[in-house]
Amino acid sequence: MIALSLNGVNKYFGKTQVLKDIDISIEDGEFVVFVGPSGCGKSTLLRIIAGLEDASSGSVSIAGQDVTYEAPSKRGIAMVFQSYALYPHLNVKGNMSLALKQEKQSKDVIEQRIAKAAQMLNLESYLNRFPSELSGGQRQRVAIGRAIVREPTLFLFDEPLSNLDAALRMNTRLEIANLHKQLATTMVYVTHDQTEAMTLADKIVVLRDGVVEQTGTPMELYNDPRNQFVAGFLGAPSMNFLPASVFNATDDRTLGVRPEDLFIDEAGPISAQVNHVEQLGGDTNLIVRMDERQLTLRLFGQHHIAEDSRIRLNFANEKAYYFDANGNRA
Ligand SMILES: Nc1ncnc2c1ncn2[C@@H]1O[C@H](COP(=O)(O)OP(=O)(O)O)[C@@H](O)[C@H]1O
Ligand SMILES: [Mg+2]
Repeated sequence: MIALSLNGVNKYFGKTQVLKDIDISIEDGEFVVFVGPSGCGKSTLLRIIAGLEDASSGSVSIAGQDVTYEAPSKRGIAMVFQSYALYPHLNVKGNMSLALKQEKQSKDVIEQRIAKAAQMLNLESYLNRFPSELSGGQRQRVAIGRAIVREPTLFLFDEPLSNLDAALRMNTRLEIANLHKQLATTMVYVTHDQTEAMTLADKIVVLRDGVVEQTGTPMELYNDPRNQFVAGFLGAPSMNFLPASVFNATDDRTLGVRPEDLFIDEAGPISAQVNHVEQLGGDTNLIVRMDERQLTLRLFGQHHIAEDSRIRLNFANEKAYYFDANGNRA
C-alpha cells in the first residue's frame, strides 16, 4: 500500500518558489530520508505533509486519503523536531501523555502506551524528571516517545539529531533504526547529513533548490548517481572531480572518482603532491594537489607518507564517472 504520496506539490513564499513539482510516493513501512543542503526546502516539504504549511498547488495523500485540506491533527501523523519542543513545566510522563489526554484516551491506554514507549527508549527511570533535568539525548528520546505513544500511521522527523554531539548522534541514529524495525511504521526523515541518509534510509530523496534530483536506495544513488550534484553530495569524503581533458585532450567532460577508488601506483597517470595526511587510525585520508586541483584519497589502514612528497595515482576505468557540461551523467 502507498503510505504517502505527494503529487505535483509547489510552494511559493511570496514570489519565491521553494518547492517545484514534487512527486514522491512512499510505500507502507518504508524509511524515507529527504536529504539536501540547508535551505533546499526539506522542512517546508515535511511541514506540508504534516499540514503545518499549505502547498501552493498539488496534493498530499496519506494512506490513500487525500489530506490536502485536512487539519494536522486529522492526518494520523506525529512529528519530531530538532528543537525537541518539550513543555518545560511538565515532567517526562506529562509530556508524553499530553496529546493522548487531548485525544481523550482512557487512563489505562495512556499508562500502557507510556510504559511501552518508555521501555523501548530506556526512559523508565526518568518519567518523573523535568526536561531541564535531562541531557540533550534524553530530551530527544522523550520527544520521540511522545510521538510513539500516539501510534501514528506516519512519523515525521525534522533533523532530530542535529543538536546532539557526535557520539550521541550515532547512538540515537541506531536507536531510531531499531525503532523503525520494531514499529514497522512508515517514517519520513529530513536531514542535511548524508551519513544519516545513507545509514537510515530504505529510500533516499535528494533535494536541491526545491527540486527532487534523484530517488533510490542508498547504494543505487551512491553507485549510479544521475548527476554531479548527487555524486558529490553522497559519500564522505566527497567524490573528486577533474576535467577529463587531463587524460584525454579532446574531451571537455568532467571526470569523477571516489576517494576510495584512487590508489597510489608508480605507473599511474596522475602526478600529485601530498598536501596533508589525515591519520584516522582505521583509515588514512590523503589530500593531494594535482596542478591547482585538490584530490582526496581514502586508503584503508595506516599509511605513513611524507607531506610534500610526490606520488603517482591511478584508478580503474570502471570506477570513473563522467559528467557533461550541465553536470548530467554522460
Ligand atoms: N515562512 C517562510 N517565509 C518565507 N520564506 C521561507 C519560510 N520558510 C522557509 N522559507 C524559505 O524557503 C526555503 C526553504 O526553507 P526550508 O524548507 O526551511 O529549507 P531546509 O529545511 O531544507 O533547510 C529557504 O530559502 C527559506 O529561507
Ligand atoms: Mg530545515
